[in-house]
Amino acid sequence: DWTMEAYREQAIAAIREQVGDKQVICALSGGVDSSVTAILLHEAIGDQLTCVFVDHGLLRLNEATEVVKMFRESYNLNLIHADESELFLGKLEGVSDPETKRKIIGGLFIDVFQKYANDIEGAEFLAQGTLYPDVIESVSFSGGPSVTIKSHHNVGGLPEKMGLKLVEPLRELFKDEVRALGHELGLPASFIGRHPFPGPGLAIRCPGEITREKLTILQQADAVYIDQIRKHGLYDEIWQAFAAILPMRTVGVMGDGRTYDYALALRAVTSVDGMTADYYPFTHEFLGETMTRIINEVDGINRVFYDVTSKPPGTIELE
Ligand code: XMP
Repeated sequence: DWTMEAYREQAIAAIREQVGDKQVICALSGGVDSSVTAILLHEAIGDQLTCVFVDHGLLRLNEATEVVKMFRESYNLNLIHADESELFLGKLEGVSDPETKRKIIGGLFIDVFQKYANDIEGAEFLAQGTLYPDVIESVSFSGGPSVTIKSHHNVGGLPEKMGLKLVEPLRELFKDEVRALGHELGLPASFIGRHPFPGPGLAIRCPGEITREKLTILQQADAVYIDQIRKHGLYDEIWQAFAAILPMRTVGVMGDGRTYDYALALRAVTSVDGMTADYYPFTHEFLGETMTRIINEVDGINRVFYDVTSKPPGTIELE
């Protein structure tokens, strides 16, 4: 795509011009926006960029390892893997209110990022994957009446607090253009096409109290579910799919014995922008096969529900 090729060259020149010989830091989440931002900056300024990957321990199975490996090995990027799962899970102990979970995670995220960023000598810039719709939204909604259903965490306000200047190379782009740019920069298609993943991660897919036991079960069950979706060639038809572990145990029977394990909810929705959504109409065969695989392959689950709630009245996530 010649347009994206031109955009890439133009963006690289603009970054070099803005940054000069100064150091830049970037919070890399593994999502498309921050990944494209990081790779573009790396092409523009190489070793002047340091990325911090904040690992809150609420990621999908093998996610942290895979993201860190890809950026270090394929892109040779300066990347700090901030493994702070002990800190996050410790502070979340006994917390079950959804908004309190988000506030704790968002606050810690900023503290942790700041702690690692302070160690990077001479950092003067913070790179962010802000898109055009984010720019528009923050202008047109500012001051107007708003109803907050769920607070989304980001690093807003952080640059001023840390005395950093912002670099936002995606400010003129829409999501599909960011994907095209990612493609242009050589990001694998499987990576570019990934379903959205929320900042608070598995915390909001574990309604009620979060425990390490529940997180481990959830990671495994989610991996089987997504594997099923990929194997049936359905991944790209779905906006977002994930498992959630419910805060209840139910009775089941396995062989000669009685089981008393967690129940799992499966969610899959179609959507254009995440604002409204419909449940994905899996076949009964698919659902049955998935239930069998999850219960056979994952210790700790003996019941599987499929969530058929649309948005509205539901939300996509369970919390
Ligand atoms: P809901 O559940 O509000 O989700 O229908 C709409 C989209 O937003 C994502 N989501 C979040 N993303 N921080 C995020 O970064 C959050 O706290 C959060 N809550 C929901 C959700 O995954 C879906 O794509």
